[in-house]
Amino acid sequence: MTEPIAGDRKAGIVGVFDRAASTYDQVGVTFFGTVARSLVDRTAPRHGERVLDLGCGRGSSALLAARAVGPSGRVLATDLAPQMVGGLRTRASDLPWLKVELGDAEHPPPGPWHVIQASLVLFFLPDLDAALDRYRAALAPRGRLGFTWFGAADESWAPVYDAIVGALPEEDRPPRDVTSSGPFESVAALEGHLAEHGFGDVVTTDVRLEVDFVDAEQWWAWTWSQGQRALLEAHERHGTLDALHEVVDPMLHERAAADGGLTWWTDVRCTVARS
Ligand SMILES: C[S@@+](CC[C@H](N)C(=O)[O-])C[C@H]1O[C@@H](n2cnc3c(N)ncnc32)[C@H](O)[C@@H]1O
Repeated sequence: MTEPIAGDRKAGIVGVFDRAASTYDQVGVTFFGTVARSLVDRTAPRHGERVLDLGCGRGSSALLAARAVGPSGRVLATDLAPQMVGGLRTRASDLPWLKVELGDAEHPPPGPWHVIQASLVLFFLPDLDAALDRYRAALAPRGRLGFTWFGAADESWAPVYDAIVGALPEEDRPPRDVTSSGPFESVAALEGHLAEHGFGDVVTTDVRLEVDFVDAEQWWAWTWSQGQRALLEAHERHGTLDALHEVVDPMLHERAAADGGLTWWTDVRCTVARS
């Protein structure tokens, strides 16, 4: 029975991103573009190369790759959320060598690809190990697999997060964070998985990103615009969103600087390996 459960989970995750797509990366917060830049700097697509960008979202890393490979290259960007695919198609209309399709990041289209990259996606996959085998098979000899994922985050925000999660019934609570167990638990664990699946020359770099919100309203807009939307939607379903605001708004007010601004940080890791 593991497959239907994994399938339900995947559909749930993708549904959240589909509903987030109209505001995803568009609420004035600098984040996904910076992460994508760090990834594409390291996968370093060259003129004429073939790049597969998995879980492309609205294209933060796919667009950078398309500009790097130029018209003699090719980028295929895939995502399971139709609204993300539609959004990127609109943004890519002047880059005919960037194709955007619906696709599951666990099942890469056949290559050979010089680069397979995925920014903030692989920790969502129900079966990373199976996916890694498929990536290796789809990569050209010495092709690069690059992806970003999360490290430590600003623990001072834990009371806010706990207020959001703690008020939800058990079945709506996510794991504390994706870095607490499994392949993404540590750099050593992740690099071990890559080695087991035939990848070498593995390099992981860690960058701390400081994220600024102009005010509490922007923080809420940001939370609705990305994966944490799942928690707010759960509150909406249970009719507890107003009560949540009553608890969290004063916390945000207390955290805010004199100008109303809020800051949060997270470490983002970028791992690149060769087939
Ligand atoms: C955090 S967003 C990252 C989007 C984009 N890579 C970026 O950096 O802005 C995660 C994306 O992965 C997609 N996603 C999650 N699981 C997926 C899967 N199994 N196959 C394809 N896309 C998936 C979501 O729909 C979402 O667009």
